[in-house]
Parts: sequence; C-alpha cells; structure tokens
Amino acid sequence: MCGIVGYIGNREAYPIIINGLKRLEYRGYDSAGIALYDGKTIQLCKTKGKVADLEANVEKEICKTGNLGIGHTRWATHGVPNDVNSHPHYSNSGDLVIIHNGIIENYTSIKKELINRGYTFSSDTDTEVLVNLIEDVKKKENVKLGKAVQIALNQVVGAYAIAIFDKNKPDEIVVAKLGSPLAIGIGDDEFFIASDASPFIEFTNNAIYLEDEEMAIIRKGRDIEIRKIKDDSIVAPYVQELQLNLEQIEKGGYDYFMLKEIYEQPSVIKDTFRGRLLADKGIIRLGGLEDYIEKFINADRIIIVACGTSWHAGLVAEYIFEDWARIPVEVEYASEFRYRNPVITEKDVVIAISQSGETADTLAAIKLAKEKGAFVYGICNVVGSTISRATHSGTYTHAGPEIGVASTKAFTTQITVLTMIALKLARVKGTISQSDYMLHLRELDIIPSKVAKALKKNDEIEEIAKVFKDATNFLYLGRGYNFPVALEGALKLKEISYIHAEGYPAAEMKHGPIALIDEQMPIVVIAVNSNHYDKVVSNIQEIKSRKGIIIAVVTEGDTVVRELADYIMEVPNTPETLSPLVTTIPLQLLSYHIALMLDRNVDQPRNLAKAVTVE
Ligand code: M6R
Repeated sequence: MCGIVGYIGNREAYPIIINGLKRLEYRGYDSAGIALYDGKTIQLCKTKGKVADLEANVEKEICKTGNLGIGHTRWATHGVPNDVNSHPHYSNSGDLVIIHNGIIENYTSIKKELINRGYTFSSDTDTEVLVNLIEDVKKKENVKLGKAVQIALNQVVGAYAIAIFDKNKPDEIVVAKLGSPLAIGIGDDEFFIASDASPFIEFTNNAIYLEDEEMAIIRKGRDIEIRKIKDDSIVAPYVQELQLNLEQIEKGGYDYFMLKEIYEQPSVIKDTFRGRLLADKGIIRLGGLEDYIEKFINADRIIIVACGTSWHAGLVAEYIFEDWARIPVEVEYASEFRYRNPVITEKDVVIAISQSGETADTLAAIKLAKEKGAFVYGICNVVGSTISRATHSGTYTHAGPEIGVASTKAFTTQITVLTMIALKLARVKGTISQSDYMLHLRELDIIPSKVAKALKKNDEIEEIAKVFKDATNFLYLGRGYNFPVALEGALKLKEISYIHAEGYPAAEMKHGPIALIDEQMPIVVIAVNSNHYDKVVSNIQEIKSRKGIIIAVVTEGDTVVRELADYIMEVPNTPETLSPLVTTIPLQLLSYHIALMLDRNVDQPRNLAKAVTVE
C-alpha cells in the first residue's frame, strides 16, 4: 500500500508533493515524509501520523525549497509506524534518497549481507535495505544510478513502486515498478510521479503508466527513458490521455468523501450503464463482453475472485448469474483461492472484481487463473489499473474516483455491471423469458431514481444511529439476494465505527448466532419484498421472542414487518433481483452516522488503506 509522489521540473516541488500526498492518503496514512532537493542541500522531514502532521513539522524543521522532491504516505508493513520507519530513507552515504510502496520479501538476507559489508541501518524497514543495496551496487560496479537500480532490482524478490534520486544528479529521478502502481505525468519540461494520476491532474493530462518490471530514468529537460528491469532493454513510452478531472477528486461541499460517494450513487449507476443499457430497445451492449460471449456461455463454470466489498458484489452475482443465465458460479476470496491449489481449467471463466484494480490478492488469483488457461474478465473502477490490464477483457464500472476507504459506490456499480452481464448472457442463452428480460432492463434503468429516493431517508436513519451509536455488537441478517447485503452492511459498520458486527444468512441464525441475542443486541434485518419474505418474517419473530432489537429494512408500504420491528428503514419497491442496489443504501448511511457520532475518521479508518497492494 502506501502512496508515493515525486516532482522534477522548474516549479517548487513542495506544494505539489504535499497536495499530492493528501490525495493519496487513502492508500495509507500512518506516517508521511518528504525530501526536497535544490541541487545543494537535501531537506528531509518525516513523521508518524498524517500528511497534516508532516506539514506542521515541515514548517518547524526544514526549508520548503527545491525543484526536485519526493514524498510518501505510509501503511506500515515492516516496522511500526514511527518517525524513523517513515519514508523517505537515505542510503548510508547520504547520497541516495528513496521512497517505496510495496514489500521486499528477501530483505532479511540482503540486509545480513550488507551488514557484513559494513552497512548500518537505523530503521526496521525493507526500504532502507533496498536503498543501500542500490548504493552498494552503484559503488561496486561503478555505474550510474539508473544502472545500479536495474542491477539491484534483479536481486530482490517482492513488489515495489520506487522513486529514488542521487544527490550528485540534481536533474534526475529514477523510478521502477513491479506489482505496485506507478504513473508518470508528462508536463512541459517537468515530470510528476505518483501512485495514481490524482496528484498531478491539474498540471497535465498526459501520463505514462509503467508496466511491471519496467523502470524509467526521468531527467529534467530530456525525454523519459523507459527500460526493462530484467535486461535493460529500451521500451517505447506509451503516453495516455487521462480522463480524470479535479472536481472528481474533491469533496464537492460534503464533509467527507464517504458521504459524497454515497450520494453520488444515483448518478454513477447511470454512468455505469450509460450507452450500454438501451432499455426501450431491449439492448445491453458491453464492449468488453461482445467478443467473448461464447466463452461465457460455454464455460463449465464462472469463478468470481475478489476481496472485501468486491467479494460481496461477487456473491450477489452468484445469485443473478445462476438464476438467469443458469451458469454455475463459485465465489472465492482471492486470498484463499491462490493458496489452495484450486482446480481451474480452460473451460472456466474467471471474473475478477476490484474497485482499485490494484488488490494484490486479486491480482495473484488472476495470474494463477491465467496460468491454468482460464479466460479472465475484469470488473474494475480505476481506468488503466493493474488488474484492468492483467485481465483478457473486462468492463469498467465508471463510478469515478472512490476515495473514502469504505467502499460504497463501487459496490453498487459493480452489481450494476454484473447485472448487465448476467442479463446479456441469459438473453443470448435463452434462459430468461422475453418479458422478464424486458422487465429487468426497465427496472435497472430506473434504479437510480429509487436509490435517490432511498437516500432521502437519511434524516430518519440518522435518528436511528443516535439510538444505537453506543451498541457494542450488531447482527445483520438477510436471505437470498440480500444475504450478501447483510455481509456488506456488517463490514461497513465494523470498518468505520470499530463496532463488532456480523453478517449472516437469516436462516443460519438458529444454528448458532441466536445464542447472542438478548435485549441489548441490535439486529438489522433486510426484510424487503421477496420470495423469502414470509421466512424472514418468521426469523424476525424468532428474534422478537428472544427480546432482540429489530432494525428492519423494509419496502415502502410494508405493514407486517413494521408492526414487529422496533425501527424501520424504508426503501422503494424493487424486484428482488435488483434489490441489493437499494437495500444497501440505508446500511451505508447507518454506518456513516454511527461512525461520525463516535468521532471516527470515516474516510480513513484506523489500520486500513484503500488499495491493498500487499498480500
Ligand atoms: O479495490 P478492491 O475492490 O479490490 O478492494 C477490495 C477490498 O480491499 C475493499 O473492498 C475493502 O474491503 C473495503 N475497505 C470495504 O469497504
């Protein structure tokens, strides 16, 4: 994880680096640091804490001058978050300065070797080992920085996006990538380096995304030189035009990104199906899918790999794919999938779901599936992300940047894409009736207005949050299509409020969790119109008889559950198949309000990071 930023050009680097780090804080926020170079003196400042803490320290400790700078916001992997372990790190001579996102897995053996050769270390990090390895190679081989980086990286095992400069070369930064993302913004006579394009979007629309095992030597006033790390061969740069704009990465009047992103859902769901869903004409057209429909239809099974919220979207997909397209689906935690020697064949289609497109576990699962000959389809939000490039084909969700660490609009737009794919396949396969197909197209088309209506209940949900903000445990129950929503509701609550919460299929309650129920236990039950409605009502009765407190998500106009529940959160009537798109809204709002009332940082919950690029 971690976010890295760099600049080389004619402007002062400091404001670019600091603002860039603030935009990348979603990637990690336990410590931050910056190094600025004016050609004479390196100014380095780093601290435990957030970028705002770094800013305060910079004011006291260093000059903010230099046209070259690198900065880092950290999510600790090796060594506790403290000032010393924060990046950037110097080499022993003080000539080289590095920032690093990733993990050097064989750092212990390299460190031993370097200690034998007289190197000393002040931090516990793998990064300090790497910078000294590069220094050692540079001295031993008597080569320039770029060559030393290339040789050294061939000795390391792990993942990295690094930016490094040499005090003796004030016009040069060397960057390299394997596993972790790295974008280079190209300006007029200036270059920007970052984990994603957000830090430099107001300066340039042109960027190069380094591929794995590539490095670049970036010199002020010169063309970028991209090389393969393996054999030092030259690679022709591919400059992309960015689609991002500044407005998308700002809070737009909301106090928190999470709230902004919750409220964006009606419009981003529309963006997800814009030009792809032509409801009146009965057409679904997904560019990435058209050429591969046969692969899906003839697949023995679809295996969905993902993590966290994206995994929950995959669980919803299991219901809709099997229901409509009659293709067997397995949904796997990407992190488990790769380690259990799964049976995958060329007849399998693997769908990888990832908002960030950078999740290391999901990426590893994709690589494994490809090795075994499966066709891999990606559903990502971040355009140009590693997963979107590693898959054979795919569909972007077009939700726009999701900056709040808790995933909200990513979930609903992922489900929107998966719904379109399932409907399309069912149509081609003939496993859905014409009337059902048309009904769902029309219903999907009007889902944004239903989501908007569900959001209007915000004030009522805030009142419910006031009642339960001090609860120490929550249960979330749902059946069928809304079982994954129960899991997602519980995840949202735990990750931003730090209240323990469990999601369960409602019927499983009697196989264990029912023992937890007493008059203190709030139980959120998703009890909207569905084939299982009566069964859910029975589950609610079972909870009531044990004095549990029911907070029910119900369909507008419901009378039965309203009578039984202690609190209700209404959502518009929707076909059960599409109901996760609306039932998830009150659960997002409930978590948001509870967390806020507990004074939590809802955008940057403790110990988490947005893009989990470590395994
Ligand atoms: O970027 P991805 O969708 O691959 O991320 C997967 C999970 O890390 C992510 O969904 C995580 O669980 C969120 N914090 C949930 O809100």
